[in-house]
Amino acid sequence: MPDRYGVFGNPISHSKSPEIHRAFAKQTKQDLTYQAFHVESGCFASTARQFFRDGGCGLNITVPFKEEAFAFADELSQRAQIAGAVNTLRRGADGRVLGDNTDGAGFIGDLRRLAWPINNKKVLLIGAGGAARGVLGALLKEQPQLLLLANRTAKRAHLLAEDFVSEGRVVGGGYERMQEYRFDIIINATSASLFGEIPPVPPTCFASGCAVYDMVYANELTPFLALVKGFEVKRLADGIGMLVGQAAESFYLWRGVRPNVNPVIQQLKQATP
Ligand code: ATR
Repeated sequence: MPDRYGVFGNPISHSKSPEIHRAFAKQTKQDLTYQAFHVESGCFASTARQFFRDGGCGLNITVPFKEEAFAFADELSQRAQIAGAVNTLRRGADGRVLGDNTDGAGFIGDLRRLAWPINNKKVLLIGAGGAARGVLGALLKEQPQLLLLANRTAKRAHLLAEDFVSEGRVVGGGYERMQEYRFDIIINATSASLFGEIPPVPPTCFASGCAVYDMVYANELTPFLALVKGFEVKRLADGIGMLVGQAAESFYLWRGVRPNVNPVIQQLKQATP
């Protein structure tokens, strides 16, 4: 019997994780299955327990269960503890379940792939929710010259920045603080686009050669990337590489083999109409 993996979420029908992991398995010749599971609210822990009891080896966890997965895990990696959320579970030989978070590593891996170094750069991270928290530790490890965390609700940015002061130079504030600097890298980690809104980046906040990353992805340019393209920003990327990157880190945790993300990113881009 091949080893069993899967992803838990709600909604889950549009998840690209099965396609990504099956492509990784084929590429690295690993004998495994990977399935998407729609889990009802309130049923996360019981469903996960059953999955592992039935011999399942590992799970990805997506919205809205990352905090419940954090509570479910028997032990936590340091990066999961820092993120306060778990996107990957792995059953060990002793049956104990490890909770990890590969979002930050997947994101930094994608910035490397794009050749957008963070070290010594001025970085703007927009948003102060789970997505921003998930990458903040990994970003600060790269030692940017400055990291401004700007959020619609300034208080949330202050609180999040306070949680990470020991990890590096991070300042939290409201959107008005985006006017204070010219940034080399700008990252949209808000869910504003789900509500048809765009964080109001001022045209003055782009350093020459600035690169802009939107953690969401779409078939065309996301609304945020379309806005900054209008400001003559040339280096743009959406979150498809991060999606594949975090999956690759999970795959590595489970199988000890690091897949090549590039052909899978290309495959997903071609699959979208
Ligand atoms: P996620 O896990 O996707 O980060 P979250 O924890 O609910 O979700 O956080 C959502 C983030 O998107 C927050 O930074 C939120 O800003 P507030 O803290 O001010 O709510 C931001 N966001 C959501 N809708 C937004 C909108 N319409 N305009 C601007 N920011 C928005």
